Amino acid sequence: MEKENDLTRRDFLKTAATVAAVSALPVAGAPAILADTAPSDAVRYGFIGTGTEGCTLLRFLTTIPEGRCVATCDIYPPNLKKGVETIGNNPQTYEDYRQMLERKDIDLILIATPLNLHAQMVIDSLNAGKHVFVEKTMYFKEEEGDAIRQAAAAHPKQVLQIGLQRRSSVLYQVAMEMIRKGALGKVMFVRANWHRNNNWRRPVHDPKYERLINWRMYREYSGGLMAELASHQIDVANWAFEAEPLSVVATGGIDYWKDGRETCDNIEAIFEYSEGRKLLYSSILYNAHYDYVEQIMGDHGTIEITVGHGMYYREPAAKVTKGLAKENWWAGATVSEKAEQKGFPIFPEKGNGEGSFMDRETRYARRWLASMGIYEYEEPHEPRWYELKNLMASIREGKPIAAPLEVGVADAQGVIYGNRAVDTGQKVLWPKKEAAA
Ligand SMILES: NC(=O)c1ccc[n+]([C@@H]2O[C@H](COP(=O)([O-])OP(=O)(O)OC[C@H]3O[C@@H](n4cnc5c(N)ncnc54)[C@H](O)[C@@H]3O)[C@@H](O)[C@H]2O)c1
Repeated sequence: MEKENDLTRRDFLKTAATVAAVSALPVAGAPAILADTAPSDAVRYGFIGTGTEGCTLLRFLTTIPEGRCVATCDIYPPNLKKGVETIGNNPQTYEDYRQMLERKDIDLILIATPLNLHAQMVIDSLNAGKHVFVEKTMYFKEEEGDAIRQAAAAHPKQVLQIGLQRRSSVLYQVAMEMIRKGALGKVMFVRANWHRNNNWRRPVHDPKYERLINWRMYREYSGGLMAELASHQIDVANWAFEAEPLSVVATGGIDYWKDGRETCDNIEAIFEYSEGRKLLYSSILYNAHYDYVEQIMGDHGTIEITVGHGMYYREPAAKVTKGLAKENWWAGATVSEKAEQKGFPIFPEKGNGEGSFMDRETRYARRWLASMGIYEYEEPHEPRWYELKNLMASIREGKPIAAPLEVGVADAQGVIYGNRAVDTGQKVLWPKKEAAA
């Protein structure tokens, strides 16, 4: 008999299309506000750290009128200038973020500085009465987690959102909803990697700026690949398993790019969760063939997510083990099941699978909802756009925070313990398990 969690292809498509449409609602519901936002109602924000990621976020923010940039801050003059040019509305500029925090007319601070600076900037901003958005990884040192918790608890009405933008991605939301609805059966394993083939360095024209520009290479400021890349995928595993790891074993080294860097050019880790569930992770800087992927595996199926694209693969039906069947044959190994094993696109977030059945289904579902006035139809956006929309909606309307404090803490803990496992060569246990041992 078919188990309850078994999905037929039609069921799956129905589930995915419905989930896609429904998951899109909270984020896609916002455009109605967009048209109505008077400049005086906008969230007034200051931005600290207008480097690469800062300017990416500022570019998205130019299309989000629920917020208005009134100040930017950076200690590196070329980046300060770039930030002003990117946002384009002549914000006041600062070199010292503390001066910016003194302004009473700023509601929100966004932080996209090197990792070692995050915690102090978050705490100072909360204590100055501001809502806060801080890029991942939320903090650098283990003890900073509690310090941020205390500051957040002292200012419970202020929003604190972490820049784990997958939490705002419609694609990931659909994938997680499919997991909750049983499309994968019992989820036991996540395999994830982020592979590149370059030295991860940025050009430096004046050597005095080497450490400021290439901060990722130095342990004083950076948690290396674990903090910069794995952090996103540890969070995906935490989300898929609805849990934090219990332990991690890991290795890594400076084995290829021996150029004076202090952070690893490769890391390999196994994070173990309860009931033997595991995340197997790698990030390397000397081969990009397998690029970026998360493969979430259950006993009924697999979801594979690469940048902006997700596929669902159903497991073949269980083997026949009873009865008079001559061969111990895969039950129902029909042509259509083989086709299912080729996979279905989950939800084409960014123009993938144009014209495919799923693509059309999802589009029709969204248009239909739009025609009912439930939400305004629009083409999907990059996850950071949704993340910033969510941020503004949390501040203006009290909507749930997409990536709140504890999501950021769990993620940072994974990064810190992962790096500790690399450094010590020892299995690192999460505190609860240590106490129980
Ligand atoms: N969510 C994502 O996908 C994503 C992607 C890239 C980077 N990030 C995160 O964004 C953060 C910044 O990364 P980046 O690549 O933009 O780095 P970056 O070096 O390009 O930018 C950091 C900026 O902070 C400035 N800065 C340094 N110290 C400062 C200080 N005391 N006060 C004000 N400004 C200061 C630097 O001058 C620089 O302009 C990191 O935490 C990184 O992990 C997130």
